[in-house]
Amino acid sequence: MQKKSLELFSLLFLSFLFINCQDQPEKKQENKKEKVSLQMVFKDDFYIGAAVNDGHIDGTDTLGIKLLKEQFNTITPENVMKWMYIHPQRDTFYFDTADKYVALGNDNNMHVVGHALVWHSQLAEWMNQVKDSTEMATILKEHISTIVKQYKGKIDTWDVVNEALNEDGTLRESNFYNVMGDSYLELAFKEAAKADPDAQLVYNDYNLWKPEKRAGVVRLVKKLQESGAKIDGVGMQAHWSLLGPSIEDIENSIIAYSELGVKVMFTELDVTALPNPWDLNGAAVEQSYEQYEGDPTMNPYPNGMPDSVQIKLAERYEDIFKLFLKHKDKISRVTFWGVQDGQSWLNSWPINGRTNHPLLFDRQYLPKKAYQAVIDLKEKN
Ligand code: XIL
Repeated sequence: MQKKSLELFSLLFLSFLFINCQDQPEKKQENKKEKVSLQMVFKDDFYIGAAVNDGHIDGTDTLGIKLLKEQFNTITPENVMKWMYIHPQRDTFYFDTADKYVALGNDNNMHVVGHALVWHSQLAEWMNQVKDSTEMATILKEHISTIVKQYKGKIDTWDVVNEALNEDGTLRESNFYNVMGDSYLELAFKEAAKADPDAQLVYNDYNLWKPEKRAGVVRLVKKLQESGAKIDGVGMQAHWSLLGPSIEDIENSIIAYSELGVKVMFTELDVTALPNPWDLNGAAVEQSYEQYEGDPTMNPYPNGMPDSVQIKLAERYEDIFKLFLKHKDKISRVTFWGVQDGQSWLNSWPINGRTNHPLLFDRQYLPKKAYQAVIDLKEKN
């Protein structure tokens, strides 16, 4: 009897050892896989994030949420905090969806961005009817203080003003400008700082690599600073393509903005791989090219990009992130405009109904060559 149980014990012990030995390499690999993510590799450099949409906020896009939590440590709301949604009527604020967005970020210890307090686009129509400067100032103050206070201590960074400049660096003739002149800028930044003194306050725009527009940003930021307003960062949207802008132009802007004593953020990064055979750069959402809708030459990769183009995208992202790392002391955040390709706004802008591939994850939520290239920059160096 005793001998038998000894034999049984030895057998069990040996199988235990065997199973454990077999298990270990796999476990190690799993652990390694868990560790490698964008947020892990860039943790000492800058925040790395993505814009989130309704599916992330209401919880239906479970794969998207999983990827978001694994890969990113900052989020920006793609639409839900824009004026037309959050302040649809003069006396109505709608916070439900924005509250859920903020909770998503706070619950997952993410750096939460608010986008955007003052912007001429996706503005509630009633606000475009306001033509009296005193009335507009009152509304702007109410708008900013109500929203910023709602999320005091919960939103870390605000895009206070979005896209106030023309391509030549002059001020855009939005309704805000037409009614209040440039005083609306100072008012907006001062009101935001009053409502939450700890929040980081940002001026955000596209094409900020352009020398003329760069000069406009420098003027704008200096004027704000001279007025005593607090401004902490310049957000370069970074809606770019395989062909441009040049790394040199981007670099010159990083340096120029950081010399103002503010941080640089890349707030809406994506790299289009589709043809744009017109004089289009930037991201003016009102531009549209309906005449090209359905034209197959404008939509060359409806079933996925060939390897040769995936490689080009990977190389472009590698160059971009090399530059970011070179200037990591000046850059506080890099945010992609979306989690995966299928959700990118570039599938419908500027031509509706195209299949674009501008991000690091494909429609199956899988990492692309571009993802690996960006990770390798840190992992292999
Ligand atoms: C875009 C959204 O991604 C789209 O879903 C929406 O239809 C239009 O706006 N610059 C900005 C962003 O600051 O808010 C814009 O987002 C893209 C350009």
